[in-house]
Amino acid sequence: MLRSTFQFCQVALLLLSSGAPIAALSDQKMNRFIDQLMSQMTLEEKIGQMTQYSANMAQTGVNLPQNYEREVLRGRVGSIFNAYTPEFTLKMQRLAVEQTRLKIPLLYGFDVVHGHRTVFPIPLAESSSWDLHLMQATARIAAAEAAADGLHWTFAPMVDVARDPRWGRVSESTGEDPWLNSLIAAARVRGFQGEVLSDPTRVMACVKHFAAYGAAEGGRDYNVVDISKRELFETYLPPFLAAIKAGVGSLMTAFNDISGVPATADGWLLRDILRDRWGFTGFVVSDYTAIPELIPHGVASNLEHAAELAINAGVDMEMQGSTYIDHVENLIRSGRVNVKTVDEAVRRLLAAKYKLGLFDDPYRNVSKERAARVLMAPTHLQVARQMARKSIVLLKNDKQVLPIKAGEKIALIGPLADRKRDMIGNWSGAGDWRIAVSLRDGLSEAYGSKRLNYARGSNILEDRDLLAFLNQHGGEIDIDPRSPAEMIREAVSVAKRSDVIVVALGETQGMSGEAASRTQIRVPENQLLLLRALRTLNKPIVLVLMNGRPLVLEEESQLADAILETWFLGTQGGHAIADILLGRENPSGKLTMSFPRDEGQIPVYYSHRNTGRPQLSGGDRWVSRYIDSANEPLYPFGWGLSYTQFEYSDLQLSAGAIKPDQKLVVNVTVSNAGSRAGEETVQLYIRDLVGSITRPLKQLRGFKKVYLEAGKSQTVQFELTLEDLKFYNRKLTFAAEPGDFEVMVGGNSKEFLKSNFRLTD
Ligand code: NOJ
Repeated sequence: MLRSTFQFCQVALLLLSSGAPIAALSDQKMNRFIDQLMSQMTLEEKIGQMTQYSANMAQTGVNLPQNYEREVLRGRVGSIFNAYTPEFTLKMQRLAVEQTRLKIPLLYGFDVVHGHRTVFPIPLAESSSWDLHLMQATARIAAAEAAADGLHWTFAPMVDVARDPRWGRVSESTGEDPWLNSLIAAARVRGFQGEVLSDPTRVMACVKHFAAYGAAEGGRDYNVVDISKRELFETYLPPFLAAIKAGVGSLMTAFNDISGVPATADGWLLRDILRDRWGFTGFVVSDYTAIPELIPHGVASNLEHAAELAINAGVDMEMQGSTYIDHVENLIRSGRVNVKTVDEAVRRLLAAKYKLGLFDDPYRNVSKERAARVLMAPTHLQVARQMARKSIVLLKNDKQVLPIKAGEKIALIGPLADRKRDMIGNWSGAGDWRIAVSLRDGLSEAYGSKRLNYARGSNILEDRDLLAFLNQHGGEIDIDPRSPAEMIREAVSVAKRSDVIVVALGETQGMSGEAASRTQIRVPENQLLLLRALRTLNKPIVLVLMNGRPLVLEEESQLADAILETWFLGTQGGHAIADILLGRENPSGKLTMSFPRDEGQIPVYYSHRNTGRPQLSGGDRWVSRYIDSANEPLYPFGWGLSYTQFEYSDLQLSAGAIKPDQKLVVNVTVSNAGSRAGEETVQLYIRDLVGSITRPLKQLRGFKKVYLEAGKSQTVQFELTLEDLKFYNRKLTFAAEPGDFEVMVGGNSKEFLKSNFRLTD
């Protein structure tokens, strides 16, 4: 008992000042609540919490009960996905909290990958902004919209490091660099989850896919992975750890195996690394039907065996399927699964529901009225436009063709110029593409239609089988029945009447994303025919690319005077592209994935190691090189131009040598030498010159975004600490080694100023 008010205040102050005791107290309260609830649960109800069904028909699922509502009523379902809107979610939630024995609320999950109703640029595009605040802001808005639409949980962020552009899911990734991916992962987790999950305008995040999904052999989706432990630790795991440090509530397993062990049955990954080494306390969900897929993987002989492997490895919830609910009871009876394993999983799942505030308000204040206020609110659209502008990368701009000068007659041509469906990209399930702004809409609105003439010029593809396949999966691609020659003729005649040709080419959205790997990552040949025909006119050509992955652009880079990489920019995409084309906004995006010259170079990424025979000059023979191509990509990591020019000078290090406990301060002067204001992303790379293992030629360890008026300069400062110099050594210990380092600072990964320092003992 507290004896006085003074004493009470002292205790309260103590609790408030540290934060930790309050968390501990609320954890105790939560644990007591969960103990009490679990003591009333039957084994079947517990396993029910570990079960999730999709409200839509499963495409690859084998176990979806026809009537999952009945399953909800019996307490055999803990989570539902592919369901949103206040109407639907409230109705199902009522069943769970009013008509089941223990009234445990359902957890609604969905792929809110790059926006919900307001669709933002695809993640690969957003990452090109290098703008962590803005990426956090779009995740925050996505969360607010998702929550208002009845959702509690998003299957994002995907943090798979992506170095193989044949893999369709690079569009969902934030690029090839583990360090940058880690910062983005943390920013997006914070954006989705906020400070406390009980905030009804936030959702719980789910970092995925654990692990190394991006290393699928040959870039073929779901394919096997075989990488070293060092590669796993150094390249693929860091963004997961960053998400966990940022407090992510859940984690999804990957479909792939790693060196023979499917990730969904990998106790080393899911327990030794995730729980014991990293201390992750959230829950683990399988990917969609990944548990039954242990059978075709060849590690499980039947569904019961698959359930046993997954649960013992540490998968707490099965996504989309009844493998757990059908088999785990029996596995416990036969002693192949310990009931403690189920209890631990259920405790984590109930804790997530508790933290989301679902036991206090299972409806989380969801209502039609709130949804109407929040979904696609005008401020959300403004952020979508801003994010879209910042995601655009100017790859080339010869003779300053861009921005388009006022009064010029524009020919807008190309099969992607008038597309709305493609603008919102894939993984935009709740987005309405019909209200997306196409390039044609955006440009007409900004420029007026008097000096703008349009022709389609070609179909997206002439491959009818591929078209039919893409349309079966929501492609919404209409085919112009005219012959390619006829369409080109019309385009050429429109182009003849113009001063500048803006041609929108690339991929339709279904050509990237899940299950959309390509062997040829090029603009389809029929579109190239159009570009070649336009080139014969000798007029300036601005190529506006839309695509979900790096493309091979050797020929395009010769045919076009300017190239604008616009990815799939979301709901407001057409406005954003118009803003850049017309110079209302200066482009500032920088690539986060290298663009190869040829598919044969893949994987091509900036942070490769030197080899014993590096190529030092073009004519060398017995060195690591191709005889038919340069080693370097066409457009490297970090590449992106501006309508102004930035110059770098005066790279200064605070010391020639630092001790392990000291910081190195790096200063560089960045000047805007052009005639208009612009934003530059200043990048800092390091190289460990001699190590106990071979080290990459460059590793990103810092970047700063600076906005400079024309003619102005600024000193940009970075700090390097021991942490930045560490790597996984021969014993796989994360440590730095004394020795010489190089520091490189510049506007991309291939042009920079250089200096050296030493780390002493
Ligand atoms: C499979 C995908 O791999 C995963 O990323 C996604 O969250 C689930 N399907 C649910 O749609």
